[in-house]
Amino acid sequence: MCGIIGYTGPLDARRILLEGLSGLEYRGYDSAGIALCTVNADIELYKKVGKVSNLKEYCDRRSAAAAHCGIGHTRWATHGGVTDANAHPHRAGRVTLIHNGIIENYHDLTGRFRLEGQLISQTDSEVAARVLDQIYQGDPLAALKELAEMLEGSYGFCVMFDDQPGNIYAIRSVSPLVASCTRSGSLVASDLTALIPYTREYFVVPENHIVKLTPYKVNVYSLEEDFPRVVPEMMCVNWNMDAAMKNGYPHFMLKEIHEQPEAMKNTILPRISRGLPDFSEDGIPDELFTGCSQIHVVACGTAMHTGMVARAVMEPVLRIPVHVTIASEFRYEDPLVDEKTLVIVISQSGETIDTLAALRLAQEYGARTLSIVNVKGSTIARESDFVLYTHAGPEIAVASTKAYSVQLAALYMVACRMAYVRGKYSREEAVRFLTDLLDSVPAMETMLTQADFIRGIVTHIIQSPDAFFIGRGLDYAFSLEGALKLKEISYIHAEAYAAGELKHGTIALISDRVPVIATATQEHVFSKTISNIREVKARGAYVILLARESAVIDSGLADVVIRIPDVDDRFTVFPIAVALQLIAYYASVGKNLDVDQPRNLAKSVTVE
Ligand code: G6P
Repeated sequence: MCGIIGYTGPLDARRILLEGLSGLEYRGYDSAGIALCTVNADIELYKKVGKVSNLKEYCDRRSAAAAHCGIGHTRWATHGGVTDANAHPHRAGRVTLIHNGIIENYHDLTGRFRLEGQLISQTDSEVAARVLDQIYQGDPLAALKELAEMLEGSYGFCVMFDDQPGNIYAIRSVSPLVASCTRSGSLVASDLTALIPYTREYFVVPENHIVKLTPYKVNVYSLEEDFPRVVPEMMCVNWNMDAAMKNGYPHFMLKEIHEQPEAMKNTILPRISRGLPDFSEDGIPDELFTGCSQIHVVACGTAMHTGMVARAVMEPVLRIPVHVTIASEFRYEDPLVDEKTLVIVISQSGETIDTLAALRLAQEYGARTLSIVNVKGSTIARESDFVLYTHAGPEIAVASTKAYSVQLAALYMVACRMAYVRGKYSREEAVRFLTDLLDSVPAMETMLTQADFIRGIVTHIIQSPDAFFIGRGLDYAFSLEGALKLKEISYIHAEAYAAGELKHGTIALISDRVPVIATATQEHVFSKTISNIREVKARGAYVILLARESAVIDSGLADVVIRIPDVDDRFTVFPIAVALQLIAYYASVGKNLDVDQPRNLAKSVTVE
């Protein structure tokens, strides 16, 4: 969480920082701030509660200074409320600092360095700034090393020292940082989006290394004795700025919903060889799939929901246990994981701290690990044994859409390859499965043509404080994601239930006109789900039913029927995902809410 950026170079630092922060805002939008090192080598601070647009206005009003060096921060509050004082940057003596992460031992450090009475914010970050100022004796590398040795927790810091005008120092542990030396100057940021307007080449700041940015040079130093210089591995982004713009859509979320067919193709097509999924270009050997006796899928949020779908697809074919666990639970359990376990971690950002910790735990237990990640070079991708990149391009809206579909596409391909190499699928069956997966793409396109129809039917949902999503089997797995999407961006209390479980308690909540979004696409439980729909209908629910084009639906069963294209049962998730995303999107728009940046949330969760 929290977006950070540092710039030093020939251009207008204020403009670069503010533009960079707008692109990073999805990481947190409680407050924003910049610190500029002016041409007279003074440090000026501008910080404001609220979005980056507030900060921009504030900077304009105060005619922010001309500067060629500065640092900027957009905050997702952890320690201390949402106030101007708690906004970053924090200034302490000769040090100006921004921080992404959590310093867990800030309380001990406050006592040890006698900081009570000096702190002007309630943040753990200011404690780090004050400690750094106390230990600083003119050598930034030595001081940052000493600080790093004292800190517990996670951090990405960018620091300016008063006696080093024009230079920025950065250091990280767990929290992400990328950097680049470009023709327009030197940049460091928590995410690539802030770098892309200036360069396509960058490097990931290695953990526990210090980066020094001067206007025309970026050097990386190891923390070993005498701080030897390290040459980082350069990487290249394969998307451009257009991908991170709205391009005529009113919201990123709607744009990203529409990008799904393309993202699916980009993820699937390069990995087909002779009609079968093939991961040789990804360096993934078949032995990874044949050598395991069970699978654990570990992830958070939407990514975890893809695991729920994957289990329902994989287990019946592979006939081995597939467990799906929320990463924040997995990491504190004593999971039944061994050398014969394949742990699949899924993460759009590749930085979610709980997922990363779960990956590390799995490795400690000797498991083989495969990550499915969207952001190239991210920590999870680098630390897992094997990585399968999804090619969704940047996902900016906080509510995940295209990342969900492509994670599923990757998991379906893994399922197919695994079934084939384990002898569970004949070549024909595997080819058929992959063809069905490809047929899901036009099914998603067809669903997108129903956007106006879906917009028209959300009126009823937005009038209700609650909504229920029901389904059986795979339909239940999709419903979990549908409910999450609706609640996170429309603030309607939405819950998903296995349709057959309703009568064990939840049906007590069904009253007159409560919206129930029922999904009934699984042939073998279709009639059972229909019976459950009748039960809620009989109690006055307003039923929105998602069913196949060819399904025969009695009149009076549902108030609205959304028809989805006829694809094989295992693939209905793809058009259904589009329909459920559009329901959530139009509900949020209908309530006039901030679709792309819903309250209290952040896109990349790098704190526990
Ligand atoms: C946050 C986002 C969700 C996302 C989850 C996991 O909660 O708002 O959209 O699903 O983190 O993120 P990851 O980057 O690991 O997929």
